Amino acid sequence: MSRYRLNGKWRTSDDDRTLPVISPVDGSVIGGVHEFTHAEIDQVFATARQAQPHWFARPLAERTDLLTRFAHRLAESAAEIGDLLMMEVAKARKDARDEVVRSADYIRHTAEDTKRIIGETQFSDAFPGQARDKLAIVHRVPLGTVLAIPPFNYPVNLAVSKIAPALATGNAVVLKPPSQGALAALKVCELAYRAGIPPEVLQVVTGRGSRIGDYLVRHREVNMITFTGSSATGADLARKAGMVPLLLELGGKDPAIVLADADIEAAADDIVAGAFSYSGQRCTAIKRVLVMDGVADRLVAAIAERTAKLTVGDPRDDAKITPLVDADAADGAEKMVRDAVAAGAVLVHGGTREGNLMHPTVVDHVDAEMDLAWVEPFAPVLPILRVSSPAAAIRLSNRSEYGLQAAVFTRDIDTAIQIAARLDVGTVQVNGRTARGPDHFPFLGTKASGMGTQGVRPSIEAMTRVKSLVVNLRAKDLALN
Ligand code: NAP
Ligand code: G3H
Repeated sequence: MSRYRLNGKWRTSDDDRTLPVISPVDGSVIGGVHEFTHAEIDQVFATARQAQPHWFARPLAERTDLLTRFAHRLAESAAEIGDLLMMEVAKARKDARDEVVRSADYIRHTAEDTKRIIGETQFSDAFPGQARDKLAIVHRVPLGTVLAIPPFNYPVNLAVSKIAPALATGNAVVLKPPSQGALAALKVCELAYRAGIPPEVLQVVTGRGSRIGDYLVRHREVNMITFTGSSATGADLARKAGMVPLLLELGGKDPAIVLADADIEAAADDIVAGAFSYSGQRCTAIKRVLVMDGVADRLVAAIAERTAKLTVGDPRDDAKITPLVDADAADGAEKMVRDAVAAGAVLVHGGTREGNLMHPTVVDHVDAEMDLAWVEPFAPVLPILRVSSPAAAIRLSNRSEYGLQAAVFTRDIDTAIQIAARLDVGTVQVNGRTARGPDHFPFLGTKASGMGTQGVRPSIEAMTRVKSLVVNLRAKDLALN
């Protein structure tokens, strides 16, 4: 049995419509969520449709004030929600709590930035042949109802980074949280209600994406979809959604390109942190190293030394490497490593697992024929490809179906800038690991890594559209002198 809200009111779900949430940490059942029916989803969207104009009619300063109060409550609950998140997605205790604090900061920043969105006015005579007889007043308005779908790896932060800009700008939100992570997302929304945000403009629909996803994304009442998740689900969603604006943040295979003049020790620090934090379950994790032949031995030794020091175990003990979200992720990554080694790659560290807990794994001498060079594992697995030149690194980087981020390690900023210009990715990090944050930076992917730009200001823009009011000025015979 589980409890859920419909039209703001509590209901009780039957056992056969309750999905158990099982912790990847210890296999215990830590809760359950209701699987919404199609009829209930219809009610949710109808409620959103009715409530949204009233929400938008409230003064902007009032909406952003409510969001700021929500942020405050979230920050106060960082330990409680963080600990739930820790058990739900096996994220180290400190990282889980940090995710909640980061989300509160995101909401505050969004509330502030939304107040700074200022329209513009234009006179007609800037265009050839036009008199100064029209004045356009251009401002931004909400899209209506935003369907927000975050993934399991940041169920709080990637929910909030959709909810906050949508609500601040006057939209209603229907949140479909990941099945693993739904308990934490539901708690976050309860805090929003307690802060005064009306439940009618922030509704949660739970259920497996494979069961209710199509119905949600095809729903005629959806005016915009903001989705973060795998490229396969994102592409499928884009085909089904029809003519609604989409913001898609998808998978990645981010390379770290290490040039011969790089500070090898510093690069190894960043690569290990970038590859293995949250056990590699980050879209922006470093998922391959492209290193120049001449410094490869040194870099591999430095990476192996650091990887060996990573603690492996229980998120409650703040271990760096924790169980993966499910056995499928571990099975897939283990197979890729085994296949690569069978084809001639060299296992430098790891390669073992107990259940979902996969030890951090470094594989050297991976080549372009192996899946490990191209497929996103979403696990603590780092393939190393040795290359003969920066041009070869650029070619391998760009051959990927993904284009999220890339890192370039070199002491020569001119070279870094020239390489960055040739990399087909959303962001290039110079002498630093790939990462989304700080969260107000624009964040985007090319190719299979996404569509549209997230951030604070870019998300605000993505969840609004321009509306123009043109005042046609009648010629008046005014005596101006
Ligand atoms: P996923 O399987 O694609 O799921 C993402 C979300 O979509 C979940 O809420 C899921 O619900 C839902 N979903 C599943 N099938 C759906 C459908 N047919 N229609 C609508 N929604 C559906 O991804 P994940 O395993 O949670 O996350 C890992 C992936 O996300 C990786 O590829 C990673 O790189 C990517 N990611 C990208 C970014 C970025 O910003 N670029 C950030 C984080 C993660 P259920 O949980 O109920 O299945
Ligand atoms: O998993 C994808 C997230 O958007 C990455 O965020 O770089 O802060 O870990 P992060």
